[in-house]
Amino acid sequence: MSKKPIILGIESSCDETAASIITENDQGIPLILSNIVSSQVEVHKKFGGVVPELAARAHINKIDQIVQNAIDESGLRVEEIDAVASTAGPGLIVCLSVGLSFGKSFASAMNIPFISVNHLEGHALSPKLNSNLNYPYLLLLISGGHSQYLSVQNIGVYKRLGTTIDDALGEAFDKTAKLLGIEFPGGPKIEILAEKGDPNKYKLPKPIFNRGGCNLSFAGLKTAILKISKNIKNEQDKFDIAASFQKTILDIMYKKTKNAFNEYEKNKKISNKTFVVAGGVAANKKIRTMLAKLCIENNYKSIFPPINLCGDNAAMIAMVGLEKFKMKQFNYLDYPAKPRWPLDEKAIFLKGSGVKL
Ligand code: KG4
Ligand code: ZN
Repeated sequence: MSKKPIILGIESSCDETAASIITENDQGIPLILSNIVSSQVEVHKKFGGVVPELAARAHINKIDQIVQNAIDESGLRVEEIDAVASTAGPGLIVCLSVGLSFGKSFASAMNIPFISVNHLEGHALSPKLNSNLNYPYLLLLISGGHSQYLSVQNIGVYKRLGTTIDDALGEAFDKTAKLLGIEFPGGPKIEILAEKGDPNKYKLPKPIFNRGGCNLSFAGLKTAILKISKNIKNEQDKFDIAASFQKTILDIMYKKTKNAFNEYEKNKKISNKTFVVAGGVAANKKIRTMLAKLCIENNYKSIFPPINLCGDNAAMIAMVGLEKFKMKQFNYLDYPAKPRWPLDEKAIFLKGSGVKL
């Protein structure tokens, strides 16, 4: 029996300092040995959003302890680690540089391979940590900075089918929360408030609903909520806005995902109708339930990461590292941090371009 690779993953692209150790069993099923995530919410709370300089300092202060905790919790000795995988982008350059430099130094000191990881690829492969996921598949990546439908052919081989032309879905949740006076990070709290509200109280716009294929747009929603929020009189009004916002998102994502299925199936070589939803917003239970139902209606197998692996973590970074390690895809120690690093490098940049669809 050959020794299974042991990978240390490091994540520091935004406001989470994270480290994880994973390996796999004899059947090739990944095993998470440790997964430590240290959030900086308290650091950024009073500013209403992530302050890059403060985030970078917090990463610097914590990273060695977080990596040490991940090693301790795994029950392994540091010499047993076979490779280090660090997020190299996309993200805030001052933050990326911390985890990247730490990973490179660790690899150099231990004389083991270094692997640079695209954070978005981490989200894309995160369901492999708990499901038997085979290529190809259709991916919906919904996070704080990205909202895209991608045809995933293999590791590193992505074709973007649709993207947001303005705000990301997580950003829409966060901005709505801010307008309702909810403390940062407010996105996840919208789901809780919506439980107590009337989803039909407010009719909100659905930008590019009937055009643009599976491209998305959410900026118009924020403008509409800005107007309504000026008349908030009591808590119930907030619940109703949250519920109406979430219902509008569900309607948009239902229609756009159906369009994405059609787009995906245009590739006649696709035999495997699997739909994967990943990224922070994939933790939203209403969105999960709606998309799972849509998959049943359209004969797709739906796969979601467990809720605790939807948000940023280092297990997903180690997962990409494990796959790349098996293919011997290592990187030199001069690998740069890449603030912008799309999965489909050939796709044109649409976000914020104000393109007409
Ligand atoms: O993937 P992630 O942790 O970080 C990025 O790579 O951006 O995603 C964070 C985003 C935030 O915008 C957050 O508000 C959103 O995911 N999010 C949610 C929920 N949990 C996290 N949005 C809606 N409902 C949730 N339950
Ligand atoms: Zn992320």
